[in-house]
Amino acid sequence: MLAASRRWRGEGLDIGLVPTMGALHAGHLSLIEHARRENRIVVVSVFVNPIQFGAGEDFARYPRDPDRDADLLRRAGVDAVYQPSVAVMYPPGSSTRVHVGGVGDPLEGAARPGHFEGVATVVSKLFAAVEPDRAYFGQKDAQQVAVVKRLALDLDVPVEIRVGPTVREPDGLALSSRNAYLSAEERVAAACLSSALALAASAYANGERSPEKLRKALCRRLEAEPLARVEYAEVVDPETFRPPGSLAVLAVRIGATRLIDNHDLSKEFPG
Ligand code: PAF
Repeated sequence: MLAASRRWRGEGLDIGLVPTMGALHAGHLSLIEHARRENRIVVVSVFVNPIQFGAGEDFARYPRDPDRDADLLRRAGVDAVYQPSVAVMYPPGSSTRVHVGGVGDPLEGAARPGHFEGVATVVSKLFAAVEPDRAYFGQKDAQQVAVVKRLALDLDVPVEIRVGPTVREPDGLALSSRNAYLSAEERVAAACLSSALALAASAYANGERSPEKLRKALCRRLEAEPLARVEYAEVVDPETFRPPGSLAVLAVRIGATRLIDNHDLSKEFPG
């Protein structure tokens, strides 16, 4: 991968990297299009990263559909797919982990200990393997974006972090590979995340600024859904991920499926 990247760079071509864990959906495809518009070469990595899943999480059952992914990537016209095995990414003896303190600690960091270390480690290795000029991440994983930006800054990685908007289903549900776990009944219930964000955005538009009242508005809608169990619902600063701020962030279990979503309340909710 590195040899190919360096050859392209030697030819004066700029490189965009879209890191993914496969099970591609329209959110990934929109990041690929974004990368296509801004770079001569687009590399997509497909790697289900074991070290970002905690014990008891869904690593073994995470959706994998390599044939469909390959077809979508071919049709999207990407220049290279980097798909290392676990043994290549983490050969025996590999033990270094990248820890991004501060922004990686609260919320997802607290709910999923070790998750962001796994993400930061694999993203560092992907940056080393591809040496991209730009790397593309989805706003749906807002805290991941903040962690990756911090990592690139702190480790002096010369890469521009670009963020693509969350792509939503017609009822507002943010696209996620994990939506595949939802039963028909849970799929209907899952719309409570986006409708809670929309309600909080309209409260914000009507002048509400109290983090506690905005949080309560989010929780009221989520708790009205019998299949939903709120893990966190906060309104935080988009750089520190601590209150106060205007970014509403949610982690909610719908049945056994853990979903996250977020919205900057100072902006109108789409749809
Ligand atoms: O967002 C994801 O799919 C993953 O966390 C990433 C960035 C590909 C790292 O494994």
